[in-house]
Amino acid sequence: MNKVTVIGSINLDTNLRVKQMPRPGETVHASEHYSAAGGKGANQAVAAARSGCEVSFIGGVGDDAPGKEMLGSLKREGINTQGIITAKKESTGQAFITVDDNGQNSITIYAGANYAFGPAEVEQNQDLIKDSDFLIAQFETPLAATIKGFEIAHDAGVKTILNPAPGMAKIPADLLKLTDIITPNETEAETITGIKVTDERTAQMAASKLHDQGVKIVIVTIGTKGAFYDYQNKSELVPAFKVKAVDTTAAGDTFIGAMTSILQPDLSNLKDAVLFANKASSITVQKYGAQPSIPYAKDIKVGK
Ligand code: RIB
Ligand code: NA
Repeated sequence: MNKVTVIGSINLDTNLRVKQMPRPGETVHASEHYSAAGGKGANQAVAAARSGCEVSFIGGVGDDAPGKEMLGSLKREGINTQGIITAKKESTGQAFITVDDNGQNSITIYAGANYAFGPAEVEQNQDLIKDSDFLIAQFETPLAATIKGFEIAHDAGVKTILNPAPGMAKIPADLLKLTDIITPNETEAETITGIKVTDERTAQMAASKLHDQGVKIVIVTIGTKGAFYDYQNKSELVPAFKVKAVDTTAAGDTFIGAMTSILQPDLSNLKDAVLFANKASSITVQKYGAQPSIPYAKDIKVGK
């Protein structure tokens, strides 16, 4: 069982279902409205825990009802929450997610308490990181905290996974040098490298740029086409499982959490891990909401 620490965001998601996304200036009716636990960091932690990892979390919530609810739900997943601070002056992060009839989403986040911690809090929790096989982070929490975490991990031989979401054009070189695995989707890969990724060839071009900056493994998820990986001169597009998507929210997060549960810390079985992650995220897209849609290990059967 892999041990994983996540430095990341915790959001209360408000989900709206619409026929079509509203355009600027337009008002549309939603046919459904509900809330669910979310946040890229929390979703990845939950995906890792449900696939069998021992997970610790470093992050922040507000001193409010959503904060208590989110902390409670992470604890119920068996996640160690000792590294989560409760901020007095900030509210718990929130996301407003609109999903259309094609299962595509658009998300607006209010970061709130997700930005109420920094390198000092990461340092206080360094034993969690040093005791892990993998450290995972995204871009919904302070960059300085992530860099500190990756430094600690790197020095301790803990593998680092950077999910560069939401996309960031100029990722600090220091961070990329400390990154073992980067996992952009096709849009984020374009934001980072300037290369429009649509297939294996363009994914390879984007991957080369990231390798040049010191990243060991590049995995680009290309929606319904699948996931491309590139590691030590071996690269391949592992096709996605064909399913009918109703809501892609947390599909990328599930991919990362599930992949981390299968991956050997020496990174030797990357393809198996990508295949398992593809299967896991194909389950997530068939259900509504972020964390309610993340599967358990027993439900992720590759080959069926
Ligand atoms: O990746 C999906 C997540 O992005 C949602 O749960 C939302 O909270 C935003 O952080
Ligand atoms: Na979903």
